[in-house]
Amino acid sequence: MAFKLTEEFKTRAEKICAKYPRRDAALIPLLQEIQKETGYVAEEAMDALALLLELPYSRVKAVVTFYTMFNREPTGKYHLQVCRNISCHMAGAEGLLALLRAKLGLAEGGTTKDGLFTLSSVECLGACGSAPVMQVNDKYFEKLDEAKLSALLEDMRHGRLQH
Ligand code: FES
Repeated sequence: MAFKLTEEFKTRAEKICAKYPRRDAALIPLLQEIQKETGYVAEEAMDALALLLELPYSRVKAVVTFYTMFNREPTGKYHLQVCRNISCHMAGAEGLLALLRAKLGLAEGGTTKDGLFTLSSVECLGACGSAPVMQVNDKYFEKLDEAKLSALLEDMRHGRLQH
């Protein structure tokens, strides 16, 4: 769904801005709002937000490209983000990624034709004590192994995603 800078969004944005001492501090919360609404942060959304917050477009773009939590392209219904950093790597993340690549027939960054899954590997998700970790949309799945991951994939395929 494409982002539209509606009056409703502007009103919501002003309420969010009012929680912060400076308007630019609302940048990340507003980007999260946009992503919640459209599933990703498109170029036109970055443009609109830059205008709204009176920030240079380059600053908005820098934030969106720095944080892997922001999608710059539409994703599948389930965005599978496998942590690739050291703790997860040591705990078997590469095996999990290989399993996902094989089961979904995807390279990283790809989306299945049915629009159900997008596969990514990402930097540390901040849950290293429970490695290996995968984030699916806004939920974390920790201490994963191949059996748990296969079961989780089946749950998602049948619309039974559980935390
Ligand atoms: S290394 Fe994977 S969550 Fe930190």
